Amino acid sequence: MTTGLYGAPSRELVDIPADALQLSPLVPGARVAETLNDTSLDALIMLAPPGTDERAFAMAHGLRALKPGAPFTILAPKDKGGSRLAKELAAFGLDAEQTSKHHHRICTGERPAELHNLDEAIARGAPRLDEALGLWTQPGIFSWNRLDPGSAALVDVLPQLSGKGADFGAGLGILSARVLTSPSVTSLDLYDLDHRAVEAARRNIADPRAHFHWADVRTAPIAGDLDFVVMNPPFHEAGSENRALGQTFIRRAAGALRKGGVLWLTANRHLPYEAPLREVFARVEPRGEVAGFKLFEARK
Ligand SMILES: C[S@@+](CC[C@H](N)C(=O)[O-])C[C@H]1O[C@@H](n2cnc3c(N)ncnc32)[C@H](O)[C@@H]1O
Repeated sequence: MTTGLYGAPSRELVDIPADALQLSPLVPGARVAETLNDTSLDALIMLAPPGTDERAFAMAHGLRALKPGAPFTILAPKDKGGSRLAKELAAFGLDAEQTSKHHHRICTGERPAELHNLDEAIARGAPRLDEALGLWTQPGIFSWNRLDPGSAALVDVLPQLSGKGADFGAGLGILSARVLTSPSVTSLDLYDLDHRAVEAARRNIADPRAHFHWADVRTAPIAGDLDFVVMNPPFHEAGSENRALGQTFIRRAAGALRKGGVLWLTANRHLPYEAPLREVFARVEPRGEVAGFKLFEARK
């Protein structure tokens, strides 16, 4: 009996078997839903993601992989797509029963033999080359269809780095592409929690010096001999602001660097990173403020 599980819904909202197969691209090591065979799952539990197109893509793959007649529970916070779930499921040909609990809409039912509009939903959320960005991208990735101003600001001031480095939370690879313009860079490790971002970056950065890791920077094993780290650290987790996340990234960067190694960081102006930087770096230099973002160079 295989239950597909997408995300981490509260156990107060749905019972989750201990051996459920995780399918979320935000859980390193999860099974990539696109690789599941048709009609291979016996049940599906999905905390549907917030973006309309990424949700259509995730639900289409989850339902495609579900056996006809098998049960599904698909839920979302009301203000993050939950209020539209029943209508979106009806477009796939599903007649879902809808309940509400703890600000979520919870849709349950059984997969019918025939599903409608699957190909269209998969196309809406699929990886694509964005002509304006000039990059491969996919709905759901951070800033998937526009250049983040914080990253753009860091790209403008980054010097030509050298040696071994890493990009923590590399996203589409915007900072990495800039780093790799330096011929003195010998290797660059790109880390991201989002499998879609890792795969997009792999397509965007065709450089043998680049190595791609679908991993959580908070826990990934990273040796402490790097010459540099670049990052635009995340400050949201599961849809809510989490300042501790960026602070952990700063500590992990310090741990990953050799003595004298350098961190280049861009952050939203309101984020309190000065004190955590000074705790773990010998020298911290502000390198400008642009469009609501502040830039730092920190040396270990
Ligand atoms: C603010 S974005 C920066 C993306 C990219 N560096 C850029 O400049 O456009 C932060 C990135 O960190 C990733 N991320 C979030 N939490 C993470 C974690 N715990 N470990 C690794 N990456 C994470 C997100 O998926 C996102 O791509």
